[in-house]
Amino acid sequence: MRVPVEIISFSCFLFSVTSAQDQECLGEDIVYENAEPVANISYTDGETVKVYCMTGYGGFYRLMCKNGQWLTLIAQRCLKKRCGHPGETPNGDFKLIKGTDYTYGATVQYTCKKGYEMTSRINHRHCRIKGWDNSVPVCEEVRCPVIHTDGDVAVSGNTEEGTFGDVVHFECVSSFKKLDGSSVIHCEENGVWSGPVPQCIVTCQLDLTEPEVVKTIPWGKSFFKAGETVEVICKKQIYNKQETFTCTDTGKWDYKPTCEEQKCEAPLNQHLYLLKYYFSGDLYLGARRSYRCESGYRETAEVATCTRDGWTPKPLCAELMCDPPIIPNAQIVEGQTNAYKVSWSIKYKCNPGFEPEEPVKITCDSKGQWTDIRKCSDGTCEEKELKNIQIIFQYPNTTLPYKPGHILVFRCTDDNMRFYGQRAIECLPDGRWNYPYPQCGGTVQCSKPTKNVQFVTLSDEKTEYRNSETLTYTCKEPYSKIPGGVLKCQNGNWNGTFDCQSTICPPPPYLQHGDYNINSTKDDVITAVSYTCQSYFVLTKNQDVYKCVDGKWETPPKCLKPCEIDDFVEQYNLKLPTGKVYIKHAEKYRLNCTDGWNAGNEIKEYVDVLCSNGQLQIDKSCDTQNKRK
Ligand SMILES: *[C@@H]1O[C@H](CO)[C@@H](O)[C@H](O)[C@H]1NC(C)=O
Ligand SMILES: *[C@@H]1O[C@H](CO)[C@@H](O)[C@H](O)[C@H]1NC(C)=O
Ligand SMILES: *[C@@H]1O[C@H](CO)[C@@H](O)[C@H](O)[C@H]1NC(C)=O
Ligand SMILES: *[C@@H]1O[C@H](CO)[C@@H](O)[C@H](O)[C@H]1NC(C)=O
Ligand SMILES: *[C@@H]1O[C@H](CO)[C@@H](O)[C@H](O)[C@H]1NC(C)=O
Repeated sequence: MRVPVEIISFSCFLFSVTSAQDQECLGEDIVYENAEPVANISYTDGETVKVYCMTGYGGFYRLMCKNGQWLTLIAQRCLKKRCGHPGETPNGDFKLIKGTDYTYGATVQYTCKKGYEMTSRINHRHCRIKGWDNSVPVCEEVRCPVIHTDGDVAVSGNTEEGTFGDVVHFECVSSFKKLDGSSVIHCEENGVWSGPVPQCIVTCQLDLTEPEVVKTIPWGKSFFKAGETVEVICKKQIYNKQETFTCTDTGKWDYKPTCEEQKCEAPLNQHLYLLKYYFSGDLYLGARRSYRCESGYRETAEVATCTRDGWTPKPLCAELMCDPPIIPNAQIVEGQTNAYKVSWSIKYKCNPGFEPEEPVKITCDSKGQWTDIRKCSDGTCEEKELKNIQIIFQYPNTTLPYKPGHILVFRCTDDNMRFYGQRAIECLPDGRWNYPYPQCGGTVQCSKPTKNVQFVTLSDEKTEYRNSETLTYTCKEPYSKIPGGVLKCQNGNWNGTFDCQSTICPPPPYLQHGDYNINSTKDDVITAVSYTCQSYFVLTKNQDVYKCVDGKWETPPKCLKPCEIDDFVEQYNLKLPTGKVYIKHAEKYRLNCTDGWNAGNEIKEYVDVLCSNGQLQIDKSCDTQNKRK
């Protein structure tokens, strides 16, 4: 046993004898598990002390100091206090979240089962000295809100405060109304309904079993609300009176959307020519047909369109008539009427002093034109104003008036101008010129010749040459069998081509819109070539090499022209592409129809056109009116 320093020193100080009564016990010698330390440092002999357990621990010890030794009188071990079971909650559960058993310091947490919610504010209990704190939490069933509907909706199920899992069904009272939403909802564990309460709204059903229906707009929708519209597109553009249908307040379509044939009969009209040809095929709504009338009749319109009212405008043939003839200085002497039908003849006579003197018979021809009208002439030919043109010779060399037989010869006042018409004209006995007066205008020039220019040297190298200018050329070796020659620019064209020859082969044949590459030569004379075309032009033959055999060239290929898409296509109701478009020979190009039109029954909004050596081939036109837009 340890002897404290103070006691030793005290003993020394007293110099006294140490007896059993004097022996003290030390507080620090008392060491028990989970027990509090004792209050005093030392205890005298015979003194008792109570040792308390730590907070949360039950038990105690009582000791007595005897002869400097601690004597245990009572020993109740310090054990952790227990709280007992924390308590079950109906429709809920709990678990330990702190500690391993229900002893001092443990915590349990409560949760509610699905469909129940905790009404207590606190969801846990702690094990304290005096037992569990808080009260056992309470779980109550969740309630979904009361369901309100209007008279249109029939409800089955618990609409007043449904609990978790409760199912409510909805139905429409009226047969032409349809639920706008789900017909079943259930009360979810968090107290909300799985979906909104639906409404009953008016609907029209689209039941198109017609094989003729190709499309509806909107597509794929089968129920429509009141006021909504649907457009029905029938094959062959045939409809029953209308194509857009509206759902009415009673759940019925304003018109039954079905496809019915709306066909225009081939018109039965007198004097229509080639009826079968022009009015064959599908004569459905939107079809456009041109028509022709038989001889003696004319078409009152160029094209008729099949509409709900039939052909519009009506394909009519009107009888051809000649307008009343206007013959200055003459009187009608026979056959005057107020309607000059085809093959009708009249006679007129020129006034005194005018030729011819005898009556003239004229006839209204099958084109509605008068035949053989002769002017009543005083025997002289008209003199016209001379602009950029001059008379260089006349016979007889007299002045005005020009009598029958008078001859005039013209030339342009400027040599660089182009001359249009006949150089010489003559006054006829009836006072008319045999040809119209000639005219001069514009400027004519010749551009530098390109054909075989590589074989010559030019006396005067220019890009443009004036009219009447001459161009001297010298043939280059070895194409100088003929030394050279002269060309003249005549009215915009050269009077010939460079004529150069070699002793072996002539120059390779010239290819318009193309060129050749030299593949072999003999003594600088070209003996084999290959041809290429300008861009967009296409060669007619796929031959690699063209040879000169025995002084003769093999037949060269040609360059086939591309096609240009110009506003000509608009005649076919085709849209002109933006910007220039060229298509090579034998190539196809897709042109779109003008908005609102399509090509034929398949509702194709385009037409494929083909190019054939510069000629655009258009087989189809967009002749059917499109009902979609
Ligand atoms: C501690 O000692 C004092 C004075 O000596 C005494 O009054 C008191 O009762 C003692 N306490 C205990 C717990 O023995
Ligand atoms: C025509 O007559 C004019 C004068 O009247 C004369 O100058 C001219 O030489 C004549 N021409 C011919 C071809 O006789
Ligand atoms: C073209 O005109 C010139 C000059 O008048 C002439 O020498 C030449 O022979 C003419 N050529 C032809 C092919 O007519
Ligand atoms: C002919 O010449 C052209 C150009 O030089 C060349 O591309 C081509 O291959 C040649 N062909 C032959 C058959 O020699
Ligand atoms: C034709 O129409 C289609 C689709 O609208 C478009 O992509 C195409 O560029 C059009 N073609 C022409 C040549 O305009």
